[in-house]
Amino acid sequence: MVKVMRVMLAGGAVATLAGCMPPEVSGRADFQAYCAGCHGATGAGDGARADGLSAAPPDLTGIAARNGGAFPYLRVMSVVDGYTRRDQHGSTMPEMGPLIEEGRLVLVDTGDGVMTPTPERLVALADYLATIQKP
Ligand code: HEC
Repeated sequence: MVKVMRVMLAGGAVATLAGCMPPEVSGRADFQAYCAGCHGATGAGDGARADGLSAAPPDLTGIAARNGGAFPYLRVMSVVDGYTRRDQHGSTMPEMGPLIEEGRLVLVDTGDGVMTPTPERLVALADYLATIQKP
């Protein structure tokens, strides 16, 4: 299980200096805005843009089922984060660097007892995906 400590790090400080409040983070809203086009509104892999892709978007509601019933937070976050860097060859998912990197960082313990600064919106997306898993 993932433990998240909402500690504001560099991103938040920058936002405060700039005089603007950091926006509310919603994994659901980000999913609908940035992911549903391919993965579908419910995450089932049937988004409007899915047809034209070289690889079919997987059904994101079956991640836990495909992983023996446990939701692999760390792997999910690194898949999404990896795409933000555009260094994975053959990757069909678009670049999401600005989405994920311009926000606040929170400290996350992904199970190894180490608190790792992680983009809050990335954590929120993974949290949201965890809530839509089929049994
Ligand atoms: C342009 C279409 C597209 C968009 C937009 C997109 N994805 Fe994907 N996604 C894919 C495809 C295709 C794959 C299969 C791996 C590959 O070829 O890149 C994938 C794979 C994944 C996986 C791995 C699933 C597994 O079972 O291992 C996750 C998690 C994921 N996407 C999450 C997201 C999230 C979260 C977003 C929004 C921030 C998003 N995707 C946006 C097309 C997309």
